[in-house]
Amino acid sequence: MSEKIIIKQADIGDIEPLHEIERLCFPPEKAADFSAFEYRLDRFPQWFFKAELEGRIVGLIDGSSSDSPYITDDLYDEGSDYNDSGENLLIYGLAVHPVYRHQGIARSLMSAFIEAARQAGKTHISLTCKESLITFYESLGYTNHGVSESVKGNVTSYDMEMYL
Ligand SMILES: CC(C)(COP(=O)(O)OP(=O)(O)OC[C@H]1O[C@@H](n2cnc3c(N)ncnc32)[C@H](O)[C@@H]1OP(=O)(O)O)[C@@H](O)C(=O)NCCC(=O)NCCS
Repeated sequence: MSEKIIIKQADIGDIEPLHEIERLCFPPEKAADFSAFEYRLDRFPQWFFKAELEGRIVGLIDGSSSDSPYITDDLYDEGSDYNDSGENLLIYGLAVHPVYRHQGIARSLMSAFIEAARQAGKTHISLTCKESLITFYESLGYTNHGVSESVKGNVTSYDMEMYL
């Protein structure tokens, strides 16, 4: 790819294009609400990154610290009891605008997130994914912990995890 991908921390001023990507990338029952994005960007923007290409936001990764090692559906909700001193990092979403896929943008977002987690002294990262993405996350260094408790979107999801 000729253009350079830039990964930066997101802030509340980015919310419109970020939520547009969320909406484009996930079915309505899986996509985070606008209010959940407001909450996350307000409370823990240090765990919300954007990918920019020529100044345009084309991807995102977001999560939060937690005492829980794995995602449960209540944690996706606005107002959930997030704990920024927790040793675990939970990833709520990784999404790349459909036009910009297969250029390594998700991989770059994930690398930035993992590096930030290491620097913050976190010991464990986890996320949930559908079966078809297990090999994708394995290629990024995750291992499969099995079927997730999360049933968001009425699909079977898997807990993928990485120890730092
Ligand atoms: C999954 C997603 C984030 C990948 O973004 P991306 O920027 O295209 O990913 P990358 O270019 O960094 O991918 C690197 C490699 O991962 C694998 N990969 C990427 N997307 C994949 C997919 N949907 N299924 C299986 N493997 C995939 C491929 O091997 C890819 O290499 P290739 O492009 O040479 O084939 C993107 O397809 C997306 O936003 N999907 C909808 C939202 C979603 O499902 N997010 C994950 C939630 S758990």
